[in-house]
Amino acid sequence: MESRLEFIEVRGERPQQPLCRAVIDGLAARQKSLPTHFLYDRAGSELFERITELPEYYPTRTERSILEANAPHMIEAAGEGAALVEFGSGSSAKTRLLLEAAMARQPELKYVPIDISADFLRSTAQTLLSEYPRLRVTALAAEYFDAIDALPAHDGPRLILFLGSNIGNMTHAEAADFLGRVRARMEPQDRILLGVDLVKDRAILEAAYNDAQGVTGLFNRNVLHRINRELNGHFDVECFRHHAPYDERMARIEMRLHSVGEQHVAVDDVERTFDFADGEYIHTEWSHKYTRETFAALCAPAGLEIAEAWRDPREWFAMMMLRPNR
Ligand code: TRP
Repeated sequence: MESRLEFIEVRGERPQQPLCRAVIDGLAARQKSLPTHFLYDRAGSELFERITELPEYYPTRTERSILEANAPHMIEAAGEGAALVEFGSGSSAKTRLLLEAAMARQPELKYVPIDISADFLRSTAQTLLSEYPRLRVTALAAEYFDAIDALPAHDGPRLILFLGSNIGNMTHAEAADFLGRVRARMEPQDRILLGVDLVKDRAILEAAYNDAQGVTGLFNRNVLHRINRELNGHFDVECFRHHAPYDERMARIEMRLHSVGEQHVAVDDVERTFDFADGEYIHTEWSHKYTRETFAALCAPAGLEIAEAWRDPREWFAMMMLRPNR
């Protein structure tokens, strides 16, 4: 099995900003924030898997239903002998629908999962290899931008997956930059298959990101546990409240951690204390929502166009196949 697995830890060009730097810069700023990717250590990735099963969290389920209805067609559209490359693969749960559709058509399949959580990536890769004897995996433990330059070549088309509305967690500028850089590495026959969460009623959106069981809150507050663990921080994690309002003008959910009461939190390893007024919040993540039009407008300057799009009957979520536009 090991011979079908190649595991590569990609070293970034610019060394990754360490958590201590992010804490010093982010928590001393007037608008406090922490970079999104620090939410995803192993515990964060596992909590995220629980989010995907929540009754209010429709994106995963809806994207899965679109894949269930269309995976064979998507694979066919990707072209003969395609390899699958996936940014942010996580547990690869939905990807299985595409992997199976591809293996139904071709004797062998190359899959390149990319994830920032190296140990999560390794266990996922091993599980897949034990289940699918005709699969070969080249796993890249990397951040998205670093992975672009490390994408393995393939003798045939590559179908580059970016599922789960992960593109939504980037700002428009970051998303355009990301798509443009992927585009620069694409051969004419390569395609991108993206999951995009669509603009919809505020109540549905806010319920999805403020679930009744509070799992999303656990996920969000995990970043404070990480600071406590890794930098000898003294956050009283229970004294930060998760809140994720929808901003209609910007078409995005914003994830926040609000201080309950005034607090002064020491983080020993950076030799600093951070002050929080009552209600003051740390921004941790955005989740942007699109329409077909706003998404197409993002793609065009990046050199991409929508070749085909699939939606669920309620039109809550879309999957879009992108191809080079020149
Ligand atoms: N990209 C997905 C989304 O925006 C998943 C996700 C990322 C998410 N961070 C999250 C979901 C935080 C809930 C909470 O929906």
